[in-house]
Amino acid sequence: MDIIKGLGEQSPLYVKNCWYVAAWCNEIDIHQMYAITIINKPVLIYRKENGELTAMADQCCHRHMPLSNGRLEGDDVRCMYHGLKFNAQGRCVEVPTMKLSGEDVPDNFLVPTYPVAEKHDWVWVWLGDPDKADEALIPATTGPDDPDWFMHKGHLDYDANYLLINDNLSDLGHIAYTHQNSFAGGKSDAYFNQPRVQMIDRGIRITRWNTNSPRRAYQKSSDDFFDQYMTYDFIVPGVLMMFQGMYKAGGAEACDFGTPTTEMEPDTASFTSQSVTPMTDGTSRYFFSWGPRMVEHKDNPDIVEGMWALANKAFIEDKETIETQQLNIQLRTGAPMVSIQDDRGPNMFRKMIDKMIAEEA
Ligand code: FES
Ligand SMILES: [Fe+2]
Repeated sequence: MDIIKGLGEQSPLYVKNCWYVAAWCNEIDIHQMYAITIINKPVLIYRKENGELTAMADQCCHRHMPLSNGRLEGDDVRCMYHGLKFNAQGRCVEVPTMKLSGEDVPDNFLVPTYPVAEKHDWVWVWLGDPDKADEALIPATTGPDDPDWFMHKGHLDYDANYLLINDNLSDLGHIAYTHQNSFAGGKSDAYFNQPRVQMIDRGIRITRWNTNSPRRAYQKSSDDFFDQYMTYDFIVPGVLMMFQGMYKAGGAEACDFGTPTTEMEPDTASFTSQSVTPMTDGTSRYFFSWGPRMVEHKDNPDIVEGMWALANKAFIEDKETIETQQLNIQLRTGAPMVSIQDDRGPNMFRKMIDKMIAEEA
């Protein structure tokens, strides 16, 4: 297994026929340029006068200057190296120094454009075969615009290959130690139960009960321990949608470590959507939102800040862990790796990614 895609000449890299999260919708205003590299492709996204997004290669077809270093002129973008101007369809419409414009500009003066969509507060870009860019394939994430949840949102940039972040997200057993001072609340053994892992369309579904989890600071209950239920889908290329609830201690056994029954009301519940976007082989952007149910927030407005502070602490712990792991892997010592039961999620997800890459090849 290539632990990091791109290491080694034969290592296939990325799934192309999928939607990658490029930005939060509100990060791109009318007539504002937004640049991001996704799977080693420089991408420029901007909003036209009518609010519609356009996405194209952020690489002038003349000498490969980033167009995002240029300027928007109405709905067109001008490269500020030698002045070529492109319309929102990526077609060069002006070469000032040659006094060419419109139809007189050669047909091969163009940059590729990409399907782009806005859904659930995220901007999604498709870098594969445009004929296969089906918006129905965009995972049904929950963003801050969802009226049932009170979400905060953010992103973090990693100096790490996306697969290491995906591994981390498909194996929440790491909470016991990586997050012993945040999510685990100093009680690692709450996270020793093995999850249920199953294949679903374009991803995996993981369900786990973490028994006797300590009460979180933002919970109002007088109980000290709860059974925490987590269920999430993790979809290619790395999109996580998770519900979690804190149930009375004993809740896990009451439903045989399965789905909580309708009579089981959680003391508190939250939802999080997260997405890993590979930028280059060694860098990734991690987008996330997190928050409690809107009804809970109304009773306890501090709950959002409490959850958010805890999640952010944990996200930094993940980042530090994975970036350190990446550095050690890059030494390529050739030492073998062993497997433990917790690797089922990461292994299944990697198999799915590898299969999709192979099918595209
Ligand atoms: S590089 Fe863009 S105009 Fe020359
Ligand atoms: Fe984590």
